[in-house]
Amino acid sequence: MYVPIILGTGREGRQSEKVARFILSEAKSAGFESEILDVRDYRQMATDKTVTTPLAKAYSEKIRKASGIIIVAPEYNHGYPGELKMMLDLLYQEYFGKPLGVCGVSSGPLGGARVVEQLRLVAVELRMQNMREALYFSSVQDQFDDSGAIKDKEAWGRRTKKFFEELSTRIR
Ligand SMILES: Cc1cc2nc3c(=O)[nH]c(=O)nc-3n(C[C@H](O)[C@H](O)[C@H](O)COP(=O)(O)O)c2cc1C
Repeated sequence: MYVPIILGTGREGRQSEKVARFILSEAKSAGFESEILDVRDYRQMATDKTVTTPLAKAYSEKIRKASGIIIVAPEYNHGYPGELKMMLDLLYQEYFGKPLGVCGVSSGPLGGARVVEQLRLVAVELRMQNMREALYFSSVQDQFDDSGAIKDKEAWGRRTKKFFEELSTRIR
């Protein structure tokens, strides 16, 4: 089962990249085939739903073959980064019916709770399956050591287990 992880910010110095790498490793441990799709690599795609460039075709193909999708998104001004929305808007039918797992990221205490809720609204129009479980990386700057390893392995192991269990049950 292929479940790509969309890294939803290209910001220089982004903390969300550490989260995406951690989720990639957890996804693989849970038995999924996965990779990170970085918005930085997809910035030049036009948001016009015409999949013509090689890059857009490659993105379309990846989403088409995906069994589910994970988004790692920081909260910017209580919403999702614009470049993430542009990337999502490139496609439509490719998303239909697929479960969406969202990981919110913030430097504050709420773990991107508002961006998680906003992405769930977008997922309705993309006819995706919203999951009950989500992961909330609050105070993200304190969650990883200098090597990029998550500090509280036990707590995050419990949370990711529930997250991937729900994702598995939703994949048809
Ligand atoms: C443009 C911008 C807007 C932000 N707005 C919020 C916000 O609304 N709520 C919040 O909790 N953090 C906000 N932050 C801080 C992020 O939570 C913080 O940068 C965190 O490290 C996650 O984002 P990153 O992956 O870009 O590092 C904002 C950061 C930026 C750059």
